[in-house]
Amino acid sequence: MTVKFHENDFSYVEFVEELSKEGEVLPPLLDGTAAARVLASATGGTKWDSFYKRESDPYKPRRYLSAEFPELLVGLPSPAFLALPTWVQRSGAAGVLRTALGCPPPPLLFDVGCGYGSALVPLLKENPSLRAVACDLSPTAVAQLRAGLDTFDAARVRCRPWDITHGLPPEFAAAESERADVAILVFTLSAVDPAAHVRVLRTIKQALKPGSGVLCFRDRAEHDLTMRRSRNQRLGAATFVREDGTLAHYFTVEDLERLAAAAGLEVLEKPRYCTVKLHNRRKGTAMHRCFVHCVLRRPLADDEPGDPAAGRTRAAASVVGDGGGVVGSGGTSLQAASVAASSDAGSAVVQAGPLWAWRLSFAAAGIAVVAALLRPPVAAGDAGARRPLFFPAPSLGAPPAAWFAAAARTLGAGAGR
Ligand SMILES: C[S@@+](CC[C@H](N)C(=O)[O-])C[C@H]1O[C@@H](n2cnc3c(N)ncnc32)[C@H](O)[C@@H]1O
Repeated sequence: MTVKFHENDFSYVEFVEELSKEGEVLPPLLDGTAAARVLASATGGTKWDSFYKRESDPYKPRRYLSAEFPELLVGLPSPAFLALPTWVQRSGAAGVLRTALGCPPPPLLFDVGCGYGSALVPLLKENPSLRAVACDLSPTAVAQLRAGLDTFDAARVRCRPWDITHGLPPEFAAAESERADVAILVFTLSAVDPAAHVRVLRTIKQALKPGSGVLCFRDRAEHDLTMRRSRNQRLGAATFVREDGTLAHYFTVEDLERLAAAAGLEVLEKPRYCTVKLHNRRKGTAMHRCFVHCVLRRPLADDEPGDPAAGRTRAAASVVGDGGGVVGSGGTSLQAASVAASSDAGSAVVQAGPLWAWRLSFAAAGIAVVAALLRPPVAAGDAGARRPLFFPAPSLGAPPAAWFAAAARTLGAGAGR
């Protein structure tokens, strides 16, 4: 399906100038004590969970993401693999076929604040090699994500309820854990207390591969329609608490530049405003949506400017709700094996090659033995025939090539009789 993709429908600068001439009216700021109380309740977790319990399907699938962030196509299988029927791509043979058809290692994505998968699920469909770790503050959203995944997708997604302000989820917590090729932070940071923004970016940075892992960021910009229409409680210049109690912060490109620098992330694609103009035909009005978009990268060596709230702190009990776990533990053993084998995307290819060669060698050896046993009976009086079957098996630790050679010799000898 071709996704129509808008990102520059109007000039953000001219739009803001126009608003200032009109006199943009925003609700008054709450005073300090009231603001602190409302903020604590908005970021505690229960508000988002109630939101997902109440709303059915609040977000449409974000099918535009890979058009917006080509970085998300990292590790896309080769065209030859993608030309295979979907059932083959999703079969137990997919791992072997990926290697044979020259596909890159299966990439690992980290979806922070995944909700019920509006961003993740379309990406899984687009890339049958993609594996993901996903977390969200709301156990209900995570349960909805799990429930919506089929067996194949479930076997490659590990998701759990998790508060990202408390540090990395267990999948990334150990120093030796596999790191992600790409992370997405899509409409999530706006729901987090602004005081924790740098810490969250630092935490995500730790989950990325040094020198190559990228963070794709998209969120609401200041003067977005939803901010201008807001009659909700206002906690800061651009921070609101919606009627349902969830937090909505609105960003500027300067905010993102400052946050990236403070978190020690390299700017791969400079923060910019994306503008989308939607038309309400019934009312005959235009809706001006404004977003901030950027791509950041973890540098090879971490060089973080000092920050007392450094993101490396890992709260002991950060699990929210049911403690999560691996989704799809009921998947087939082959799927489970392929996920386990690819727990390190780098080593997956290194391991898959020899395994594949080993299987082929043993198959060839087996065929050689059967062929030799089934060889035609010798004619009477043919004294030279019927030499004993000899399969010169190499030692068990021998490389696949040695098994191949032995199998070929036996086959050759069998054919010669
Ligand atoms: C506007 S929704 C976006 C959901 C999803 N990223 C998407 O694109 O549809 C914001 C999400 O952030 C989650 N969230 C808010 N604070 C969080 C936190 N501290 N840790 C993890 N997730 C959080 C919420 O539960 C909610 O699912």
